Amino acid sequence: MELVVDGRRVEVPAAGSLLDALRDHCGVRSAKDGCAPQGQCGCCTVLVDGQPRVACVTPVARVAGRQVTTFDGLSDGDEWVQRFTDTGASQCGFCTPGIIVRLAALPVERRTDPAVRQALLAHLCRCTGWNSIVDAAVAPVEVRGRDTDAAARRAAIEGHVPQRVDVEVAAGRGGFDADTAPDGALVAMLDETGAWVVAESMAEVRQLTQRVQGRRTTLPLTWPIEVPAGEWAITLQTTWVEPAYLEPDAAWCRPGGQSSSPLANGGAFGGKSPSMVGDVARRLADEHDRPVLAVLTRDDVVRLGAKRPPIAMGLRADGTGVLRVARTNGLLLPDGVEVELVDVIGPTTSAALRGAGWAEVAAARAVLGDGAVAAPGGGWARATINDDGDVEVWVRAGEPLDQVVLRSYCVGAAHMALGWVRSEAITVDDHGVPIDVTIRSAGVLRAVDTPQIVVHIEGSDAAPVNGSDAVFAAVAAAAWRRAGVAGRWPTMRP
Ligand code: FES
Repeated sequence: MELVVDGRRVEVPAAGSLLDALRDHCGVRSAKDGCAPQGQCGCCTVLVDGQPRVACVTPVARVAGRQVTTFDGLSDGDEWVQRFTDTGASQCGFCTPGIIVRLAALPVERRTDPAVRQALLAHLCRCTGWNSIVDAAVAPVEVRGRDTDAAARRAAIEGHVPQRVDVEVAAGRGGFDADTAPDGALVAMLDETGAWVVAESMAEVRQLTQRVQGRRTTLPLTWPIEVPAGEWAITLQTTWVEPAYLEPDAAWCRPGGQSSSPLANGGAFGGKSPSMVGDVARRLADEHDRPVLAVLTRDDVVRLGAKRPPIAMGLRADGTGVLRVARTNGLLLPDGVEVELVDVIGPTTSAALRGAGWAEVAAARAVLGDGAVAAPGGGWARATINDDGDVEVWVRAGEPLDQVVLRSYCVGAAHMALGWVRSEAITVDDHGVPIDVTIRSAGVLRAVDTPQIVVHIEGSDAAPVNGSDAVFAAVAAAAWRRAGVAGRWPTMRP
């Protein structure tokens, strides 16, 4: 069948989704697969006859003969990526092209704060905390003479992995593995039994694996660890939290070669570090004597990926006490608490996830104290939340290097902290398997639920250190206070 993609007439097979047709047959890389075929993250958004559509749930047969515009075909795409870069509205960049397509389709007179947030309902972003994206659409700034190396340095300090900051990233060209796999690479995906299936294309491997997509469960959350007995000034129980990074794990490898890293351009905040896809790509490339791209579906990411470990703790007024935490290797824990590693039936957990263990204790101590958090890496932050729910943050992170990037990461950390306290968690069944497997199940706060977040950055000539992890714990403390220091997180989910 025929369709018109970015003004070019193309022929594609009539079966499968528009997203697979675009990526497999039209060379489009800007439309990303963040959750196909869930249709929930918005990363694959394109225009069909000028209207935004989520390509992963649009059968290609339905768009026969119609005009499809991807991010690459937007007439004002360059202007948008500049706005996003200048406002810090793109960090890893995986979600960005889809969001830009959606915003570019909004009539200029509807580019207001509430209308933009409404339009963003169809999208998810793990990194930015939304507000800089709204700024890019509503109140773009122009930044002159920016030192992009310094900006990238700051991004790497905040994301804990090498990261670029430039318009290419905002254009979704941050080097994601599913985009950079060599031409002719086989595609490998897990089937329902957990076996790797290899095929010539994404569409074909989807057909062969016949995956039945999981859902969001109606079963309640569980808090697997009991608070230790004692006379405590403050107690907290948490459950498993999905890191909810937008780019599903992917890696490719040539026969006899080294696999690519599944961490293309940050964005996972400690997720993916124990990912299996690199080893799988290398093994399959050798077996098939062809390059292989190994990918996880969103379901696989949620079922198999590492979670933030659940904890239960009790602290005295002086900040000492007992922290029980699901057994996890390598946890960095604060002094003054007795730590008990507890075996619980549940998904894999990772110490690499933002502040795992210490941030819980730091948030509790901030609630008991003056709200300030000093992170192990040297960053310092304090946060308040006013009666309207708006957040104000003060941060010290040494030399800022780039105000735009540091602010963006601090807003993103504040958004992640608000979600952590209020809504982020997944349900796990009696066998320890996550059963909340859509990307929306993770509880990431939407743009319409995200308050204004004002960040004050202290100027300094001291060596730059991570600031957003301290912001994460400080905003969690402020949100916890607003929630009446409830004994369980998330506070707003049953
Ligand atoms: Fe949005 Fe990374 S910039 S998911």
